[in-house]
Amino acid sequence: MTWIKQPTEKLFSAEPEPRAGYVAFRGEERRDAQQIRDLLEASFPGFGEALLVDRLRHDGDMVLSLVAEDQGIVVGYIVFSRLIIEGLEPAFRAVALAPLAVYTEYQQQGIATRLVQEGHACLAALGETLSVVLGEPHFYGRFGYSNRRVARFESEYQSPYLMALSFGAAPAEGRLVYPPAFKALSENAPLQADDRV
Ligand SMILES: CC(C)(COP(=O)(O)OP(=O)(O)OC[C@H]1O[C@@H](n2cnc3c(N)ncnc32)[C@H](O)[C@@H]1OP(=O)(O)O)[C@@H](O)C(=O)NCCC(=O)NCCS
Repeated sequence: MTWIKQPTEKLFSAEPEPRAGYVAFRGEERRDAQQIRDLLEASFPGFGEALLVDRLRHDGDMVLSLVAEDQGIVVGYIVFSRLIIEGLEPAFRAVALAPLAVYTEYQQQGIATRLVQEGHACLAALGETLSVVLGEPHFYGRFGYSNRRVARFESEYQSPYLMALSFGAAPAEGRLVYPPAFKALSENAPLQADDRV
């Protein structure tokens, strides 16, 4: 198994010590895996997103993953994984945002917004310049994601829900190649329990 050490702690803005009733934001740690699975299984129908994250982690394809935590409980989660744009020389390394989830009881408090914003800040500090998402335009549009930004990309997910946001120089053309975990998800090929980390 490959474990990617994520240097997010140093990148985060100074945060006070978590206090009761306050949600803290930090990089995912190894001990969070089961709580993340629980959150994703509660947030999406079926086990697809939980298995997607298990497989991304297993394959070493996560670029950045953050949790929102309330007194030791993971209540929100976001992942950016490695998305390659082919057809360019050399191929370009972008990221794909998916999934994003917050427990129902914690929604409408800006937790997802903060996860996305902190994620973008960390990604920019890591030198990433392009993030792609397949999601609700009403939600992701507020962060600057637009369907226009992906108009010339080739993708099996091309639709009004496919959007991108660039934080720096990034291509506008090429073929989007998602990590194998996404293909496994659509082919319904779950990890074996032993493969989980
Ligand atoms: C989407 C989700 C992550 C938002 O979490 P949250 O912490 O409540 O989000 P925030 O408080 O930062 O922002 C709330 C805003 O998101 C909007 N929103 C929530 N779910 C939405 C959806 N499915 N489509 C469009 N907008 C949505 C709310 O209407 C609200 O808008 P407002 O600020 O104009 O009132 C959460 O509802 C969730 O986990 N849903 C189930 C999993 C899911 O669908 N994830 C994929 C997201 S596309």
